[in-house]
Amino acid sequence: MTQTTPDPVRRQRAQVKVRTLRTDRWWLAPLLTFLGLSSFLVYGVWAILDTSYFVDPYIAPFSSPCLATSCPEGARFLGWAPFGDWYTLPPGLLILGLPGGFRLTCYYYRKSYYRSFWLSPAACAVQEPHGKYTGETRFPLIVQNVHRYFFYFAILIGGVLTYDAILALIHKPIGLGTWILVLNAVLILGYTFGCHSCRHITAGRLNHFSRHPVRYRAWTFVSKLNARHQQLAWASMFSVMGADLYVRLVAKGIIAFPFA
Ligand code: FES
Repeated sequence: MTQTTPDPVRRQRAQVKVRTLRTDRWWLAPLLTFLGLSSFLVYGVWAILDTSYFVDPYIAPFSSPCLATSCPEGARFLGWAPFGDWYTLPPGLLILGLPGGFRLTCYYYRKSYYRSFWLSPAACAVQEPHGKYTGETRFPLIVQNVHRYFFYFAILIGGVLTYDAILALIHKPIGLGTWILVLNAVLILGYTFGCHSCRHITAGRLNHFSRHPVRYRAWTFVSKLNARHQQLAWASMFSVMGADLYVRLVAKGIIAFPFA
């Protein structure tokens, strides 16, 4: 039996001797991504600690669902307070890990923060600062595979935000905040259902679309959202930040009716 010698060229990454071969503004996309994601992180920390998260009928998305008795009466999700009296920290901390974990492990966000924060690599044909590359084949990055499980929790969070928007819709009079919450719920659902894991759930491993017409339709719909996943990731990120800030400004009395 003949033994094949591994091709040395295929066992290592391309060695780029100069800093970059690019002549375009390759740094612009990672820079904008860095600024966008950083603003989301900074805002998120502030919002989670802020206590003005409810003004009837609006609840700020970063603090919803509110599940403790420390939440104002109308802010509790379905009037429910399973965490009782003993939980006195900000309500947003309780659920932060679910939408946070979903976005952190999202295929699109992974690409964007690997490029903009870790510069691994910052762009094609640009030298990276890291000497070694193991991808997502070992700990800790192999943990990114939990994304498919976060998807199920993200559906619950999307459902809660939709419920919040419907509550605002049936409240009279309807203010600008209602439409902001509705738009946010639509974008969050669009981002969630456009997830690659959702696409796999709808029709992954199917050999015959013709034998599964319902799953085929679901897959077709999800695929359309999936094709816009990057855009929906950004749009929903800014919409949830905008909606959250808006509700807090109304709750603080900085924005008042009829604009509220
Ligand atoms: Fe982006 Fe699942 S791949 S949310």
